[in-house]
Amino acid sequence: MFDLDSFAADCRAALREDSSHKAVREVVARAVSDPSAMLAGLGEPKRGEVQKLYHADDLTIINVIWAPHMTIMPHNHEMWAVIGVYTGREDNIFWRRLPEDAQGRLEAAGAKSLAVRDAAPLGRDIIHSVTNPVPRLTAAIHVYGGDFYAQPRSEWDPETLSEHPYDVTKTLRLFDEANAAA
Ligand SMILES: [Fe+2]
Repeated sequence: MFDLDSFAADCRAALREDSSHKAVREVVARAVSDPSAMLAGLGEPKRGEVQKLYHADDLTIINVIWAPHMTIMPHNHEMWAVIGVYTGREDNIFWRRLPEDAQGRLEAAGAKSLAVRDAAPLGRDIIHSVTNPVPRLTAAIHVYGGDFYAQPRSEWDPETLSEHPYDVTKTLRLFDEANAAA
């Protein structure tokens, strides 16, 4: 069964070994290689939500449960991340900034669909949006190489693709609305 304390300790040890996401990715890949152990340790997902599992200046671990068919607008993290899916699927669109655009607008640059057992590293400059394409909850462990809650970052309007300061209350509202629609 997945044990949060040992997972966090393994991530800390990986970070000491290598301050990039490389060693942490191995830890996440090992964890999600046994999805039923993840579900046993973290519990069956009940609703769309973000659960804070571990929080330090240099490392944050959250459990993200996406409501059926929910999409989150493009956003950045300003730190590296590793996403490990243990139930459902995460469709990521990656975006890049239009050069010298006054509104900080984006264009789509690529995509990656993450399945159960995938552990995907995201570089510190990555901008992505995420959709849960399945009609049930998707859950993924997300590990960030910094203080995910304190870091100022950006989100982009999903219609105009213009840049705005990240608004955490808006994100929480998105989860509530997606739960209500499910
Ligand atoms: Fe993200």
